[in-house]
Amino acid sequence: MGIEAGNPQSWVERDAAVVWHGFTQMSTYVENSPIVVESAEGRELVDVDGRHYLDAISSLWVTTLGHRVPELDEAVRAQLDLVAHSTLLGNGSRIVVELAEALARVVPVDDARFLFASDGAAAVEQALKIAFQFWTNQGVAGRTRYLTFGGAYHGDTIGSLSVGAGGFGTDVFDPLRFPVVRAPGFDQPGCIEEACELVAAYATDLAGVVIEPLVQGAAGMEMRPAEEFAALGEACRANDVLLICDEVAVGFGRTGTLFASEQCGLRPDLMALGKGITGGYLPMSATVASARVCAAFDGPDLGERTLYHGHSYGGNALAAAVALRHLELVEEWDVLANVAARAAEFAELMAEQVAPLPQVRAVRQQGLMIGVELAPPADGLRWGRRVSAACVARGVLIRPLGDVIVIMPMLTTTPDEVGRIVDVVAAAITEAATPEARW
Ligand SMILES: Cc1ncc(COP(=O)(O)O)c(C=O)c1O
Repeated sequence: MGIEAGNPQSWVERDAAVVWHGFTQMSTYVENSPIVVESAEGRELVDVDGRHYLDAISSLWVTTLGHRVPELDEAVRAQLDLVAHSTLLGNGSRIVVELAEALARVVPVDDARFLFASDGAAAVEQALKIAFQFWTNQGVAGRTRYLTFGGAYHGDTIGSLSVGAGGFGTDVFDPLRFPVVRAPGFDQPGCIEEACELVAAYATDLAGVVIEPLVQGAAGMEMRPAEEFAALGEACRANDVLLICDEVAVGFGRTGTLFASEQCGLRPDLMALGKGITGGYLPMSATVASARVCAAFDGPDLGERTLYHGHSYGGNALAAAVALRHLELVEEWDVLANVAARAAEFAELMAEQVAPLPQVRAVRQQGLMIGVELAPPADGLRWGRRVSAACVARGVLIRPLGDVIVIMPMLTTTPDEVGRIVDVVAAAITEAATPEARW
């Protein structure tokens, strides 16, 4: 099992020989017992040896309803019978029009327009460029900077990396990052207030403010109360600075509302969507722009007010078809009600079983985004990795962010799965801290 007839190497060895994995040291990849996925059933992944793993990180926060959802599978098949892809540069696609119309009805952006791309980082990058050109097109010079937050993560392209706060080994790219105005991270109470002051102080330099509303995911699930955010929207309006909400991680129901901006009382000028937009099926992202932003780009054909930016696969028809069906299912299945019920169960069980453990410093949760901050007795013990490995050995797939254990179950997760995840995480934390732990 796991080794193809006639090929003596394991799948992991074949993998390491030809695939370069993101954020992964390839010379130690094999030693870290990676799983090689072959298929999926519901919310479980099945590896090449037939072992099942509950996908408690939703395949890096993208899968919402499940793997192999019959309705989503059917949406892809039906679109295959029409067309898989056609370019959106200068021409249209019927399924993309239908998707954009459906999204426009639900996003908290005034009279929304959508510029599609494939990854979250590209959606952020597009938003940065649009915000800059918005001012240039109106003859306003000097709006070249962005205000962003400590702990922020917006993706790995140079622009998105620049507005992000660094870390995760990305400091090597510091010489390539452009400078920003940086407010404190969400781990600092008062960070939003300070950001509002910075907006006023730097107003004429700022093209926009970039924020992850409600939760800074990659920072280790750092959160601020929803009611703190409206002041930032007001500061942007009062100082005529564009507000860019990055909902790549928090969008599509993850935090309990379809978009986190809704809870925060924010109506951004620009918004970045990604990850859950297709339910985790196909790579698609979008930059959402308000009509006011778009109007600044109107002008003569081939004129300089045009946005000269676009990606080959932007608005892919297969991705659009599955995204449209996904949006319908989120409503038809009342997925947000399940998020609320399961989030309440998680909160209760985590408080009982995980938060009291001596190896746990804090448990943070917003909807179905949960971070368990471990309290290792010393640096360099790789507890995050050890706890995750112990979870995987128990059949629950977890990937940490440093010493924060991330739990991102699918939005359709069941009460039984909630119980299983909490049991496994609690047992893994206890085990990883024992001296005889072999991880
Ligand atoms: C808030 C946020 N923005 C942007 C990104 C980048 O998205 P992608 O990995 O699809 O480029 C991420 C990815 O985790 C994210 O959490």
